[in-house]
Amino acid sequence: MARDVVIIGMLGSNLDRMPRNERWERWRPTISLFQREDLLIRRMHLLHAPEHSRLCAEVVADIQLVSPETTVIRGRSLIQDPWDFEEVYGALHDMARSTPFNPETEDILVHITTGTHVVQICLFLLVESRHIPGRLVQTSPPRSKDSPGGLSVIDLDLGRYDRLAARFATERAEGAALLKSGIPTQNAHFNAMMDEISLVAVSSDAPILLLGPTGSGKSQLAAQIVALKRARRRIEGQFVEVNCATLRGDAAMSALFGHVKGAYTGAVTAREGLLRAANGGVLFLDEVGELGLDEQATLLRAIEHGRFAPVGADQEVQSRFQLITGTNRDLTVEAQAGRFRADLLARMDLWSFTLPALRERPEDIEPNLDYELELVRRRSGVAVTFSAEARARFLAFATGPEGLWPGNFRDLGAAITRLATLAPGGRVRVEDVERELTRLRRAWSPAANPTDAGDRLGRELLGDAAWDELDRFDQVQLAEVLRVVQASPSLAAAGRVLFAQSRARRGSPNDSDRLRKYLAGFGLTGAELLRR
Ligand SMILES: Nc1ncnc2c1ncn2[C@@H]1O[C@H](COP(=O)(O)OP(=O)(O)OP(=O)(O)O)[C@@H](O)[C@H]1O
Ligand SMILES: [Mg+2]
Repeated sequence: MARDVVIIGMLGSNLDRMPRNERWERWRPTISLFQREDLLIRRMHLLHAPEHSRLCAEVVADIQLVSPETTVIRGRSLIQDPWDFEEVYGALHDMARSTPFNPETEDILVHITTGTHVVQICLFLLVESRHIPGRLVQTSPPRSKDSPGGLSVIDLDLGRYDRLAARFATERAEGAALLKSGIPTQNAHFNAMMDEISLVAVSSDAPILLLGPTGSGKSQLAAQIVALKRARRRIEGQFVEVNCATLRGDAAMSALFGHVKGAYTGAVTAREGLLRAANGGVLFLDEVGELGLDEQATLLRAIEHGRFAPVGADQEVQSRFQLITGTNRDLTVEAQAGRFRADLLARMDLWSFTLPALRERPEDIEPNLDYELELVRRRSGVAVTFSAEARARFLAFATGPEGLWPGNFRDLGAAITRLATLAPGGRVRVEDVERELTRLRRAWSPAANPTDAGDRLGRELLGDAAWDELDRFDQVQLAEVLRVVQASPSLAAAGRVLFAQSRARRGSPNDSDRLRKYLAGFGLTGAELLRR
């Protein structure tokens, strides 16, 4: 059995109002609903503002003329200001709740051609949230004189949502692909992280902190985040990039925040500074752990208030930018050691992402190998290829236990560049690979090149021979302990970092004693490391 059609609509105080003698020649949206042969309307709820009572009565009379079988229920709405979102939503919400809809026997259509935009939006929301269990309908003026005009039903059905959702998913995938420089990476953890970053990049301007070992791609990712933001029109200003390790002494303040003319001897002209250059864009502070404490204080003010004082200025200037920072230091340790402001860290790491080392993503070596070959082709114009055997040999090494890649993409890029340069006629053979692998093994041998600061400290303090006698199991733990002790002002401070969890559980244990005993097992006291 066909359901009864029920219409809900707002009287159009302009569109439904026409001079009496011309009113049948002109298009009136509410009336046009009743002039259609394809639509038999059982009931209409016609809402109107109190001051339009007369117009409403006239329109209702005309409806009865063209469609005597329709029952019109006039709803005098108490909306004072039809542009006030809260008021309109409240009134329509009340109307929806007090009207006994029966979607089983009624086909409910919500007419949104009339009424202010605010009314239209509120009706949309009420339909979408199913407070009104119906479909939206729009009417439009006729193209020819005898037609009643257009009518289109906007069905917020699930299929439509699926299509919208599919579009969002595509956009998101495109964002992530851009972040990955188009490399078809396979590592699930890495891919999930790129999805998340792409979502953050296009929907937030809050600071982003990029962590991860050297060469893991932090700087490249920062540039890709900016490219994505630009593609989605989230930024208009410049991308300003600075490596904080290159900012030293007095010059650092002035490079970042600028100075006024005559701020110090030699300041013959004013300088804008990097923060102001980044206004409306993105400031990428690479190796942010190297920033001095004075610079940190001014930077904090700049990101919290969008203002700061250039060197020698007595007035503050404004600059608003998105901050991206990168570091391979553990800033929590730095903060605990008093070298990094904890309040600045808290502002910087609203979003923080740790890029994995290459050896944690073995499945991504091959797609990155192809990417590197493509880079070589673009740089030199020569298409270099591996023989099947050579490729298999390289990948077996690269993804196996020997593939340490301490410099991550820097190492991979360098290895491929060497292979490509030495390959006769652009063809990499298995013997070329063997030669490169020998080189990599030598370069990565622990004695030649301790892989991190902790290993280096261990070798220094114990001597190469004693260090090499330790199991890797002990080396790893000792290296990390030494690194933390070296970054701390006292053994007690180091203990607080190293035993933070058990400390929180047990109250106040003697951390420095525990640490002293551990170090003593290796013939160390800790004193040789403190305040180095
Ligand atoms: N797939 C890749 N992802 C990221 N970087 C890559 C990739 N392939 C090659 N590279 C290159 O690897 C090098 C190291 O990357 P990048 O400078 O972004 O690392 P980083 O994490 O910033 O290192 P550092 O901590 O030393 O500054 C760059 O030359 C970069 O272009
Ligand atoms: Mg970098």
